[in-house]
Amino acid sequence: GITRHYKFNIRLENMTRLCHTKQVITVNGLVPGPRIVAREGDRLLVKVVNHVPNNVTLHWHGVRQLQSGWADGPAYVTQCPIQTGQSYVYNFTIIGQRGTLFWHAHVSWLRSTLYGPLVILPKRAIPYPFAKPHEEVPIIFGEWWNVDSEAVISQALQTGGGPNISDAYTINGHPGPLYNCSAKDTFRLEVEPGKTYLLRLINAALNDELFFSIANHSVTVVETDAIYVKPFTTEVVLITPGQTTNVLLTAKSQPFGTTFVMAARPYVTGLGTFDNSTTVGLLHYNIPSFVNSSASRPKLPLLLPTLPPLNDTAFATNFSRRLRSLATNQFPANVPQRVDKRFLFTVGLGTSPCPKNQTCQGPNGTKFAASVNNVSFVLPTTALLQSYFFGQSVGIYTTDFPDNPPIPFNYTGSPPNNTLASFGTKLEVLKFNTSVELVLQDTGILGAESHPLHLHGFNFFVVGQGFGNYDPSKDPAKFNLVDPVERNTIGVPSGGWVALRFLADNPGVWFMHCHLEVHTSWGLKMAWLVLDGKLPSQKLPPPPSDLPSC
Ligand code: C2O
Repeated sequence: GITRHYKFNIRLENMTRLCHTKQVITVNGLVPGPRIVAREGDRLLVKVVNHVPNNVTLHWHGVRQLQSGWADGPAYVTQCPIQTGQSYVYNFTIIGQRGTLFWHAHVSWLRSTLYGPLVILPKRAIPYPFAKPHEEVPIIFGEWWNVDSEAVISQALQTGGGPNISDAYTINGHPGPLYNCSAKDTFRLEVEPGKTYLLRLINAALNDELFFSIANHSVTVVETDAIYVKPFTTEVVLITPGQTTNVLLTAKSQPFGTTFVMAARPYVTGLGTFDNSTTVGLLHYNIPSFVNSSASRPKLPLLLPTLPPLNDTAFATNFSRRLRSLATNQFPANVPQRVDKRFLFTVGLGTSPCPKNQTCQGPNGTKFAASVNNVSFVLPTTALLQSYFFGQSVGIYTTDFPDNPPIPFNYTGSPPNNTLASFGTKLEVLKFNTSVELVLQDTGILGAESHPLHLHGFNFFVVGQGFGNYDPSKDPAKFNLVDPVERNTIGVPSGGWVALRFLADNPGVWFMHCHLEVHTSWGLKMAWLVLDGKLPSQKLPPPPSDLPSC
């Protein structure tokens, strides 16, 4: 591989959407930010210079960071933030991965504007397991607030209630014509009849899982989270925050100038208010010389594609069951067959008591809290990885994260009987090369809800899923250990569970959290500490000299 250098200047920029102008934090003045393109085996050196008042970190979502945990990026987990006027070079090599990933800020809610595609091409000699597409196009979904998104989350945390919902979803930064003042700058994909396009779908929205569809077209899913899957055709794609999905789109034979609508809107299973608006982009049949000519304006009205109802869990379940690893000789599914340690983690929303002398806007006057095995995770004021590496854990973290729910209960039943979360900074320790089976069980404490759980530092195989309470005496018999989908972010079914397997072959501290940013803010997060192995190649190297301090 070669070394590729990028320079990311974090700057404030005025941006106008929906007739509102606000200052937003950008990389190099852009939202979405610059596209990183590398090849499997390349080293990336991304110099991030912070010119804004906020603390910043960036995360390379889905990059395994083998032996390079210092470059992973979650604030107070693997690094202290880059402060105003400071810089940090993220230095990592892409080993054994190719496909679509993305990068985003990993501190507070800065991800609302700091995000962009990370495209890893295969090694030169290795073609895709499908015909080479005519063109490859990132389609990145985002979420826009007319106000400062940092104010939205700090207000929610202060009042204990839910945050203000977003004002729009966006496709490649643009809300599209269904929103106020947004018709002009709609994202438009130009296609030629008969050609095939690889759409690299990325959900970078903060708080919403999305359905995506293109009117009158179906697409073929070929990859999720930078792992090839057995191709299948669908009219609708479900994509949670933190997931990426590559689909092939073949342009039909259509007359010049024909326009179709692509649209995304949320899949929602929880309670409370949410942004139920629809973002739209255009698919425009063209021939190259006519691109950008005024003759290519779409003719209105446009027909929206048919999207599933907002709470269509049946669709979500079917869609995720269709995802299978490609599992060929060239791209095998190395599912761990042996298990060294089993864990059952509950994930869900709950509440914590309202502090005295405060009025709280959460359920029944409480504060929202979210937890994993009843631990609502509190980030320390220094970075966990540094504390671990230098043997300074005292007062920073403990290693007593519960392997199982502290009180077993009917997780998806009602009425709930276990709503209290305790606050703490507890890590789950794994010896190097432990083969882990992890069941994530949704709790229905405040109503069942799908949670897209993301694991840093690893991909996992989704060996099973189901509804109700996970049953360790019956469910494992149905596990797929042959071609389960392999990914880094999985929607835990609303009112159900998923079973995951991964090999802890990467030393470091690895964050795991709900990729709905509001749930992370409420504490739906934890971290694994994977110890060094014996060989030099199994040890975490010392931190780079420019690693920020707190
Ligand atoms: Cu995409 Cu911990 O994040």
